[in-house]
Amino acid sequence: TEKEKEYVIGFSQCGDADNWRKAMIGEMRRELAFNPNFRLLYKQADDNSAVQIKQVKELLKENIDLLIISPNEAAPLTPIVEEVYNKGIPVIVVDRKIASQLYNNYIGADNYEIGKIAGNYAASLLGESGNIVEIGGLPASSPAIERRKGFADALASHKNIKVVKQVNGNWVKPIAKDALLKVIDNVTTPSLVFAHNDVMALGAYEVFKEKQLPPVKIIGVDALPGKGAGMEYVNNGIITASVLYPTGGAESIRNAVSLLNNQPVPKETVLQTLIVDSANVRMTSLQADKILEQQKDIEQQQIVMDKQQQTYQTQRNLLYVLGIT
Ligand code: FRU
Repeated sequence: TEKEKEYVIGFSQCGDADNWRKAMIGEMRRELAFNPNFRLLYKQADDNSAVQIKQVKELLKENIDLLIISPNEAAPLTPIVEEVYNKGIPVIVVDRKIASQLYNNYIGADNYEIGKIAGNYAASLLGESGNIVEIGGLPASSPAIERRKGFADALASHKNIKVVKQVNGNWVKPIAKDALLKVIDNVTTPSLVFAHNDVMALGAYEVFKEKQLPPVKIIGVDALPGKGAGMEYVNNGIITASVLYPTGGAESIRNAVSLLNNQPVPKETVLQTLIVDSANVRMTSLQADKILEQQKDIEQQQIVMDKQQQTYQTQRNLLYVLGIT
């Protein structure tokens, strides 16, 4: 039989310390298991744009057939991504954007919409009036810019609901906590926190608790299923709600496979979102857990198949050594 052509997909990830990024690569590896002739070259940049630029250059040297990238910050990563695209190497941008249209496919939920959903939900929680503290993600990353804008636009018509303080948590809990601790004493009667992701939302919860301040409503983003993640925080009442932000891991691999097989892929793959709160968290986490279980089954089957393949190879080698084939 003719051997199928092997493809190398380069994946440049901005960082992978948090559960959301771990879920993303997990989804990618599972999807890859269905496509054995695609190999993944993976690099993560520890949330550092300069490191990420260097890593994309390294991937280029490895002769990748396609690049998947989640750029740490939009502007700094734009020139190198354009360079890859201009070499004729297909580019899939996932979650965070670059400041250019030179890519084949962008995958992600609409972050402006996510900000709006959070703003409308905040307004419905607060009623007439309230003081909001907003904890933003890394300022130069596209989801932070878009979530902030959507949130502000949703609240524009509510004159007595005000974002009284904005701090940057750069997507990480300890930075969010430090930033909030510095300002929280000077915020008069905060009634709600909007954090651009759930790890920073948890940080806000901890700050209010540690300072023995009256608890506030907290809205986060991600609603990741599993232990120690957003859906659990909603379920335990640590945060009030979270806006679902799918990772796009599986879609990245599927679209990469399509592009490399010369099948059409749309310029934008928009992932669905929804607000997760006490009204639907049980249902949504049950569904998510079921999917996670099925994905684990797939992984197990993959391991069994790999073992069988190894046994088969060993036996073939043995027959060969014995001169039987
Ligand atoms: C994970 C993360 C998510 C957030 C996304 C934005 O690293 O911070 O929590 O939704 O990145 O790009």
